Amino acid sequence: MKLNRRSFLKNSLIAGTGLTLVPEAWRKLHAEPAKGSAKPAHPVVISSANGKRTTARAMELLKQSADPLDAVIAGVNIVENDPEDITVGYGGLPNEAGVVQLDASVMHGPTHNAGAVACLEGIKNPSKVAQIVMERTDHVLLVGKGAQDFARMHGFKVEDLLTDKARKIWLRWKENLSKDDDWLSTEVKEYGEEIRIYRENHGTINCCALDANGDLAGVTTTSGLPYKIPGRVGDSPIIGAGLYVDNQVGAAGSTGRGEANLKNLSCFLVVEFMRQGKSPTDACLEVCQRIADHTKLSYLLKKEGLPNFNVKFYAVNKKGEYGGGAILNGGKMWVYDATGQHLVDFPGLFKV
Ligand code: GLY
Repeated sequence: MKLNRRSFLKNSLIAGTGLTLVPEAWRKLHAEPAKGSAKPAHPVVISSANGKRTTARAMELLKQSADPLDAVIAGVNIVENDPEDITVGYGGLPNEAGVVQLDASVMHGPTHNAGAVACLEGIKNPSKVAQIVMERTDHVLLVGKGAQDFARMHGFKVEDLLTDKARKIWLRWKENLSKDDDWLSTEVKEYGEEIRIYRENHGTINCCALDANGDLAGVTTTSGLPYKIPGRVGDSPIIGAGLYVDNQVGAAGSTGRGEANLKNLSCFLVVEFMRQGKSPTDACLEVCQRIADHTKLSYLLKKEGLPNFNVKFYAVNKKGEYGGGAILNGGKMWVYDATGQHLVDFPGLFKV
């Protein structure tokens, strides 16, 4: 690389202070692709357990030589548009005030570029808006009203994303919050289980792909934590927390308690562990261990000292190897590779 006058002077100044520049051996280790990373013969797509149609669509597009980012975004758009998935896009569970606020991020391996939106209201496909942030601006993350104005400017329609189903679940939650307010508690038979399950599981969708050229991309999109405080942003739109891609190494995404990933930059760490040579599964479990080690607040711990929340990771490396890991009890992920489409089990760090 040619040094311009300014960087030459800067390096000379650093040398003059007696500080050493980054050793050549370290630089080489970090610049080279993971060992044995020949071009894969066949693309690989992975996704969280709600990504059956997502992986199928992404693989279909990859077989037609689509860019891996276009492929994964088209895949998750199916779930964003589906009112039956109440954790993503249209029909997602709303915040405390009954308003659906969406988060999403995308990352493109070949250009190491990224885009994201957070607290986006009224737009079904936050992943598409995130892609336009990446492609049409010099920014990475737009939030709230600014993100919505940006989307509108690019032709997106603003619509009410709160479906009847999501509204009823939210209303039951609100009515049953406390016996001491003026809301009359109702029977929570209808949707009672959903109120609990979705709050505990933080549904989201992540999809990552490796194409036949060995290029990687990923997307994570969500309606976030149900009944969250308005304005809350989770891990999904934060590059390194809910998604990370390094085209030399691999890609990783996450679902689950976003706050844990925000405090540990977990997906970045999964990719860094893969860079060190760990398998995708081991890299995911190592990050689960890191989160567990960093969980100190008593309200986040079970009696036995284990985290009382879950986070799941999904990872694919440059060689097309994939894996996942969860803090508690393991999980499932969709994989579409040369052998077809499979729902694959992955381990948990702790069994409870
Ligand atoms: N992982 C999704 C969220 O916490 O918002």
